[in-house]
Amino acid sequence: MSTRPQLTTESGAPVADNQHSQTAGAAGPVLLQDHHLLEKLARFNRERIPERVVHAVGSGAYGTFVVTNPNIARYTRMKLFSEQGKSTEVFLRFSTVAGSKGAPDTARDPRGFAVRFYTEDGNWDLVGNNTPIFFLRDGIKFPDFIHSQKYDPYSNRQEPDNVWDFFSHSPEATHQFTWLFGDRGIPASLRHMDGFGSHTFQWVNANDERFFVKFHFKTNQGIRTLSTQEAEAIGGKDPQHHQSDLYAAIERGEFPSWTLKVQVMPEAEAATYRFNPFDLTKVWSQKDYPLIELGRMELNRTPDNFFAEVEQAALDPAHFVPGIGPSPDRMLQARLFAYGDAARYRLGINHTQLPVNSPKGVKGGARNYGRDGGMRFDGNGGRAKNYEPNSFNGPAQSNEASGLGFSVSGTTGTYVNPRHAEDNDYVQAGDLYRLMDEPARERLVANIAGSLAQVSREDIITRAISHFRQADEQYGARVAAAVHKLRQSR
Ligand code: HEM
Repeated sequence: MSTRPQLTTESGAPVADNQHSQTAGAAGPVLLQDHHLLEKLARFNRERIPERVVHAVGSGAYGTFVVTNPNIARYTRMKLFSEQGKSTEVFLRFSTVAGSKGAPDTARDPRGFAVRFYTEDGNWDLVGNNTPIFFLRDGIKFPDFIHSQKYDPYSNRQEPDNVWDFFSHSPEATHQFTWLFGDRGIPASLRHMDGFGSHTFQWVNANDERFFVKFHFKTNQGIRTLSTQEAEAIGGKDPQHHQSDLYAAIERGEFPSWTLKVQVMPEAEAATYRFNPFDLTKVWSQKDYPLIELGRMELNRTPDNFFAEVEQAALDPAHFVPGIGPSPDRMLQARLFAYGDAARYRLGINHTQLPVNSPKGVKGGARNYGRDGGMRFDGNGGRAKNYEPNSFNGPAQSNEASGLGFSVSGTTGTYVNPRHAEDNDYVQAGDLYRLMDEPARERLVANIAGSLAQVSREDIITRAISHFRQADEQYGARVAAAVHKLRQSR
């Protein structure tokens, strides 16, 4: 007798033969009554779900976050950070931005660094990147920007013309382009890069004092990067290089870890800080707001099933817990809508019940009056009342004021982002260039020129170079010379 479990149909009936279809006689055609065959083919046709519209290529792992600085409770009432040694389960999904599924892990692209903390007050999702800044400062430009980075509607490939045309009309992207074409634009592995919350968030403490904060995950493995040539060679042989490296390290017991740090700005200082603190194209100087340690995050468990746990993960910057909330950052505000909407389209209204998405830190799980919807697979609230308020002891609101908020003034309308004393589109891009040593500058210029020289129109090239010139005259002149040289040699 075989010890293997019985193979069954989806409805549980034993399958007698999984190798031969039912046929009309030994040599005849296949029968429509072969339910097992039809069900198997039909399920296969439905295996794919829409890929994420951005960040489609990704890898995930679980781990823990442990508080190492209990003094942080001075700034926030988030329970997660309330005591020394407190441990919270986390899930982290890394990703590239522009590529569709199958694109190599080694592309020059920002990396998504999306962390979910399963706290007792619900899931807190910090959906950031491996860069402290972004290309844009207003979410209304995001769909156009992504169109320029993904495949062209005609050629069906990433077009240097589109990438650089959009940039040439978006001077605020100069800082992020300088970062991207520099050494950190291609991490050697997911373990050897930092992560950032990127946006400015708001914290409130138990005394209702408010602060603006920025999160930094510092890799404990050290920063390692790949040159363009190394990345092309590795990605050509093993497109899932970063995925394999992450799983192999965890399986060896070499658990990657990051130290979580935070910059804290008292609420009153935001209005007069030298840079607009809600402009995602800018960093806050660490001289002005030094990093304060919060704790240590370690990844120590690989998901058993990639589709169930990584592809179906739906992280959402709108998932806050008491003690933290949004700032007026316009990119963040747009994102507060986009991710829940994307998950409802990609996975359906009941995606929050999937194990990776359900708030497993909360005792008893989520409790509310949301009901029904496609593929409701828990008890759907059973006999309990499905409205509120009710007289039947159903879940009720906490009545606890969040303590969050900021004052606003003026008339509704469309406005350019307010500029603070030292704000312009180029100042921090120039600073970043000048911070690099000579070999790093050389690589930056060569990487930009290698891409920009492929552009077919002179006006786009000239406009793009003018941004680098305004960041630093030497930077722009070197890019111009390198592009000229490459175009001459073609
Ligand atoms: C993924 C929209 C800006 C980081 C996504 C997804 C959408 C989206 C629709 C796919 C979500 C899914 O299907 O699960 C937007 C919009 C933005 C924006 C509208 C601008 C307003 C940003 C910024 C960052 C970022 C500024 C980082 C600082 C990510 C990450 C993911 C992602 C890490 C992957 C999440 C995961 O691993 O599942 N974005 N995004 N996005 N986005 Fe954004």
